[in-house]
Amino acid sequence: MCRRMFVAAVCLILPFALAGMGGPVAASTLERGAVAAPESQAAEVGGSILSRGGNAVDAAVAVQFAIAVTNAIGAGIGGGGFMLIHEPAAGEVVALDYRETAPAGAHRDMFLDQHGDVDAELSIHSALASGVPGTVRGMAAVHKQYGSLPWAELIQPAIDLAENGFEIDPWTAGKILEYGDKFALISERFREQVEFKLYFNGGAGDRMKIPDLAGTLRRIAEQGPEEFYTGETAEMIVAEMQRGGGLITADDLAAYRPKWRDPIEGYYRGYRIVSMPPPSSGGVILIEFMNMLEPFERLALHSPQQIHLIAEAAKRVFADRSEYLGDPAFADVPVDVLTAKDYARARASDIDLARRTDPATLKAGDLPVRVDSDGQTTHFSIVDRNGLAVSNTTTMNTGYGSGLVVDGAGFLLNSQMNDFSAKPGVPNVYGVTGSAANEIAPGKRPLSSMTPTMVFGPGGHLELVLGSPGGPTIITTVLEVILHATDYDRSLAEAVDLPRFHHQWPPAVTGTDPIAIETDERYTLAPETIAALSELGYTFDKVESLGDVQAVEIDGRRVTGVYDRRRTGGVVYD
Ligand code: DON
Repeated sequence: MCRRMFVAAVCLILPFALAGMGGPVAASTLERGAVAAPESQAAEVGGSILSRGGNAVDAAVAVQFAIAVTNAIGAGIGGGGFMLIHEPAAGEVVALDYRETAPAGAHRDMFLDQHGDVDAELSIHSALASGVPGTVRGMAAVHKQYGSLPWAELIQPAIDLAENGFEIDPWTAGKILEYGDKFALISERFREQVEFKLYFNGGAGDRMKIPDLAGTLRRIAEQGPEEFYTGETAEMIVAEMQRGGGLITADDLAAYRPKWRDPIEGYYRGYRIVSMPPPSSGGVILIEFMNMLEPFERLALHSPQQIHLIAEAAKRVFADRSEYLGDPAFADVPVDVLTAKDYARARASDIDLARRTDPATLKAGDLPVRVDSDGQTTHFSIVDRNGLAVSNTTTMNTGYGSGLVVDGAGFLLNSQMNDFSAKPGVPNVYGVTGSAANEIAPGKRPLSSMTPTMVFGPGGHLELVLGSPGGPTIITTVLEVILHATDYDRSLAEAVDLPRFHHQWPPAVTGTDPIAIETDERYTLAPETIAALSELGYTFDKVESLGDVQAVEIDGRRVTGVYDRRRTGGVVYD
């Protein structure tokens, strides 16, 4: 890969000399572009943008709007997310944070009842659950910086899908049914809620149309991204908030801004890992995790020892996450310390490969600098022929967000406020705890686990673009896929298709030490492995599956996309 420090001539000549020899190649010599998306019709949209001459960022904007229609469970213009972009010409990765913000009227104790206990449902399913959405201005920011096709052209495929209908796949059909029943119960408490089932219904193979959403997307396409924040759509959001007792005001919407950030970087056995900085915990915790594992020898994949080692490291990194991570504009997040190799080495020094650490005895690590104080998400990865690459994770937080549809506008609002720590030490919907660093404050971004990531090979060239949904399990999912591809030398398809497991430190039940494992028979661990881990004292949380990785691998000139067979998805090449 051509880094800035190389002279231009070397950048131009070297790749051609090395092409076909398995060495680094010029960005422009990739054989094809690839879109790996969590829903096949959205993947088609991305592929058609690349085929039309659009670049990876154009395709990303188009896919983002398309999944807002076809994959409303985990993406939408009422949500937010994070994007990494690799510019081969500059040899750089930039990060865009389009995470939601707490409205100006939010306050630290807003989800506590009169007894001081957390009212979790309020932070997930009420009008108070939503942060100010970041997706539309986020897409506008990346489009302005890197886009080559007109804005309206990139939104048109999503308008078509919403207006003419899209085919419901079996996985989505199951989710619509499941959440329809769930929201019907919830709306008894929050009567103001627009009926989810009015918008989302239909079985596998049916075509679903969302005319109100088509209208909203058309306004955003024709009038530009500002329409969402200051136009008719903004008025509809505010009206919805007033109806449901929510906090988002016209001023909150007008004031929302995405932020460009420097990514987190680290090295693991010669690979350069680039990922998302705070307000996501993803990059910091991934690097701390890898730094802790690096000094240990490579253990047999999915042996009890390997799973035990990762569980022990997980307990330590998630304890640190709970104590130290939050929005860096509000909390002093010790990123440098947490991602330093010597800190990780010291933190891992009491890991015993023959004995478990009781999670109840674990606390956050002592840092030189002390700090004062079942859901759904969507990941897609895109690489174009010129090597411009996008790793994008976006979310509504819990499935279909708060379940609250903006009346007349046809889109759901997120439930991202639940990612704040409503009360120190009390787990959120994903079982992770937080401290003052992640308490609620006006304008603050809730701490995330989203981990859009890029991996560069020892030769410096981009090899892997990946990410996943799954709340805190995102971090272990991304970690394990990288380990499968690097330490265990698996192809990308194999790396994604191997079983996964997860540990996140604070046990829901005192005295237990649970490792989450997959029950889907394609991904179960060997019974002997489970038996050996039980012998060590571990318990097991059984979940159907962990994560949903969409990834692209670059190997010399070859580009391969993979979607996770655990859910639905698609890969399209240009
Ligand atoms: O930002 C976060 O970490 C969460 N809101 C992500 C939620 C999620 O991944 C749910 N997916 N299955």
